[in-house]
Amino acid sequence: MCGIVGYIGHENALTKIITGLTSLEYRGYDSAGVAYVLDNQIKIIKKEGRIENLKSALSLVDHPTIGIGHTRWATHGEANERNAHPHQAGKFTIVHNGIIENYQELKQMLEKNGYTMKSDTDTEVACALFDFLYRDEKNVLKVLEKATTLLKGSYAFGILCSDDTSTIYAMRHASPLIIATKENEKFIASDIPAILEYTNEYYLLEDDDIAVLKEDSLTFYHEGREITRPKQIFEGNLETSQKGGFPHFMLKEIYEQPKVIQETIRFYFDGTKDSLHKNLPDLQSYEDIHIVACGSAYHAGLVSKSLMEEIANIPVTVFVASEYRYQKVFYHAKTLVILISQSGETADTLASLRKAKEAGMDTLAIVNVVGSSIAREASKVLYTKAGCEIAVATTKAYSAQLALLSLLTLKLALLHNTIKEEELETINEKINLLPKQMEDLIHNPQYQKMATSIYHHHDIFYLGRKIDYAISMEGALKLKEISYINSVAYPAGELKHGTISLIEENTPVIGVITDSSIKEKTISNLEETAARGARIILISKEEIDKVDDLILLPHTHALLEPILAIIPLQLLAYEVARLRGCDIDKPRNLAKSVTVE
Ligand code: G6P
Repeated sequence: MCGIVGYIGHENALTKIITGLTSLEYRGYDSAGVAYVLDNQIKIIKKEGRIENLKSALSLVDHPTIGIGHTRWATHGEANERNAHPHQAGKFTIVHNGIIENYQELKQMLEKNGYTMKSDTDTEVACALFDFLYRDEKNVLKVLEKATTLLKGSYAFGILCSDDTSTIYAMRHASPLIIATKENEKFIASDIPAILEYTNEYYLLEDDDIAVLKEDSLTFYHEGREITRPKQIFEGNLETSQKGGFPHFMLKEIYEQPKVIQETIRFYFDGTKDSLHKNLPDLQSYEDIHIVACGSAYHAGLVSKSLMEEIANIPVTVFVASEYRYQKVFYHAKTLVILISQSGETADTLASLRKAKEAGMDTLAIVNVVGSSIAREASKVLYTKAGCEIAVATTKAYSAQLALLSLLTLKLALLHNTIKEEELETINEKINLLPKQMEDLIHNPQYQKMATSIYHHHDIFYLGRKIDYAISMEGALKLKEISYINSVAYPAGELKHGTISLIEENTPVIGVITDSSIKEKTISNLEETAARGARIILISKEEIDKVDDLILLPHTHALLEPILAIIPLQLLAYEVARLRGCDIDKPRNLAKSVTVE
C-alpha cells in the first residue's frame, strides 16, 4: 500500500530511487513521483500510472545525491498526477504511506491559517501541518515530534525541508519503514526488496521513531530522546526478488512451491513428535481457536478450520480481520487467536491482533515477513518460509501458510489422540513425496487447453463441499484478481438456491473434490449444472466420468491434500489471465500489502 524510497549519499539518487520503487511496485502503481535536491532547491517530478512513465519524464542531466520517491495506491482522491506524491507545502516536501484519519479536521484548521490544498490527499494536509508547526518551531525534529501527537491514523513519511537540503527525515506510525545503510550511503524504504540491490543492512523503525539521515550520520529519536536501534542483516538475496527467466513473478512463485513447502515443513518437523513439541508452541491448554486474516490468508484459515475440526477435533471459527476488529467477539481463557498474514503489515489483521491482546487472549501469528509488525506484536510467531513474494496474487506464501497450519493441526491431533504417534511415519513419508507430486502437477500440460476453453467467459463458478469449498474460494479469488472474470465459489449444495439460474450453455463450472466422504454429493451437484449446459472442469483425486476436463490429484495424507489441490487452480487462473492479456503480476486496483483499512 504505497511504496517509499529515499536516498542520501554520493551517487545518483534518481537511479537508486527508481530501482527501489520498481521493486516496490507491488505496493501500488497508480502514480509515481520523486523529489530531489539540485543546487539547494527541491525539484518534484510526478506522473500518473506506472514507474515507467515517471522514468521517461526524468531529466538525464540531473545527478542529485539526495531524494525521496513514491509509488501510490490511491486512498484519498483519484489516481492522477495532481494527487501523486511527493506533496509540497511551504518549506516541506513529503512522501507518505498510510492514512491520516483526522485529515478533515486538520485541513479545516490549516485552511483557517492560510493554507490552500492543491490535491485531494490526506498527505498534503500532513505536509501543511509540518509547515504550519515549523512557522513557530523552526526545528524540523521538534516539528515532527509535535506532529506525532496531532496526527491520527497510520503513516510512514519521507520528508525534505527546503531550509536544510542535506537531510532526509523519516518517521512512522503503524506503517512499515526501514532505514538501510551502505558505508556513507543511506536509504529509507517501505520494504527490503527496495534496497537489496545495494545493501542488506538495515534498521527497523519502531512506531513513533524519527530517523535523521545525513550523508555522514544516521540518528534515531523516540519521544524526544536520541536512541539506538539494532542493525539487522537480511539473509535472503536479490535473486529471490527477480524473475529468473520466468515471464511473470506469479509463475516463478508457483514453480517455487515444492521447495517452499519442503522448507517450511522441515523447519519445524523432522518426522518425530519431539520436533513438533520443540518447534511449535504448546497448544495443550486451548479449547477453541479463532483464526483471523484477510484475503488468501483468510482462505488458508478456512482450509485449516476444516482440518483442525475434522482431524484434531477442536472447534475453530474463522474471521475476516476487517470484521473481527469491530464485531462482538466471544472468547474465554482457553481461546487461542491465530493471525495469518504474508506481509505481517495488513492493517486490519494488525488491529485484530491488538484487540485480541487487549482482551487478554493468547495470540499466535503465522507470518512470512520476518520482523514485520504482526510478527513483533503477537505473543508467539511462526514464520512461513516462502521467501520474498512479489506477484500481487499470492501463491507460494498461501501454500506455505497451509503447510504450517497442517503441522499445527498435526500437533493438535496428537495432543487430542485423534492421530496416533504410529501414524507419524506414514505422514512423514507422504511429506517426502510431496515435492515430486507438486512438480508433476505444475508440469501437467492440460492447463493451457482448459484455459482456452473458458477464458472468454464473463462468469465462472467454483463448487466444492466442506474443505473443498474453502479450496474453491481461493481458486475463485486467484482467477478474479488476475483475469477480471467474475468468478465465485459456492458450497456445491447451495447453488440450486438461486445461483443456478445463471448457468447457461457452456458456462464454466469448476469442481473440487479432495474429500471422498462427500464425493457423490458434489458430483450430483456438478451434474445438475451440466444438465443445464455447464462445461465441467474437475480437480479430483479420483477418476470421474462425464466431465469435460479432469485434473487428477495424486494421493497423499488428508493434511496435505489442500497443498496439492490449489496448484491446478493457480495455474488455470494464470493461463486464463495470460490469454486475456492481463497484467498478471500487477492486477488493476490491487496492492500486495494492504496497510490501510
Ligand atoms: C492483499 C493481497 C492478498 C492477501 C491479503 C492479505 O489483498 O493482495 O494476496 O492475501 O492482502 O495480506 P497478508 O499480507 O495479510 O497476507
